[in-house]
Amino acid sequence: MKGIILAGGSGTRLYPITLVTSKQLLPVYNKPMIYYPLSTLMLAKIRDILIISTPEDTPRLQKLLGDGHQFGIHLSYAVQEKPEGLAQAFLIGKEFIGDEPCAMVLGDNIFYGNGFGDKMAEAVRDANSGKATIFGYYVTDPKRFGIVEFDKDQNVLSVEEKPKNPKSNYAVVGLYFYPAGVSAMAEQVKPSKRGELEITTLNDMYLQEQNLKMQILGRGFTWMDAGTMESLLDASVFVQVVEEHQGMSISAPEEIAFRLRWITKDELLDSAEKYGKSPYGERLKAVAEGKFVK
Ligand code: G1P
Repeated sequence: MKGIILAGGSGTRLYPITLVTSKQLLPVYNKPMIYYPLSTLMLAKIRDILIISTPEDTPRLQKLLGDGHQFGIHLSYAVQEKPEGLAQAFLIGKEFIGDEPCAMVLGDNIFYGNGFGDKMAEAVRDANSGKATIFGYYVTDPKRFGIVEFDKDQNVLSVEEKPKNPKSNYAVVGLYFYPAGVSAMAEQVKPSKRGELEITTLNDMYLQEQNLKMQILGRGFTWMDAGTMESLLDASVFVQVVEEHQGMSISAPEEIAFRLRWITKDELLDSAEKYGKSPYGERLKAVAEGKFVK
């Protein structure tokens, strides 16, 4: 199973903050935004990850994350010249994906909730047996998102991108699992009216061949897309409240790698050292010393 983080886009909704830096490098409380989607793929036990970003931002992300060895994973990088749609990631990543199944997470999507790893494990199993998975999350502003309509048995009936008359309040979050062959499927996606290769068109193709599953991220689960001023601040406040209340990190890739035994205690301590006296580094040190429960 391969993984892609799509960290493209010009971030115009966050101007002037993103005039000279990437949205995915902005802080969400105490760590760069990209740590969150990276942690998501790691929790799905995906260790071979391609990061796709703009020509300007790719070298910056590479400087931050390197080859991934400090997280016990392998990171590679590719450029999306223009923001021509989320499904384009599978064309850019065609060679990287090869003949394996592939997950994709958007660089500004933040997930937090108990049992998330199990949900993703199910999606991985389904991808291995030829089925794609999307995740639905209840929202109050459905016109802003891809929307999924489903029946009482949670069978998907339709998916629509930013519909004027939404058929449900369930947004399709920015995390997708696809079976082998997704690049060939993406090659058949026609540009939408706004000229983009829409992920929703790709999902609809899997739906038409009855290979699209949906899992609900229900009450008690938090999903945020930190791509607007309000949601960026909300995400920071949310992470601060949960982390400080529980004394545990949300989306610390080194901690996840350590708990999955992808890195040793010494490697975790080396990373903690690198972060100096920051609270993030202090917390990694405490994890290495066994101070936090699982
Ligand atoms: C994209 C997708 C949309 C999805 C959303 C989740 O929208 O096109 O289907 O619901 O991400 O974050 P964007 O945020 O790029 O407008």
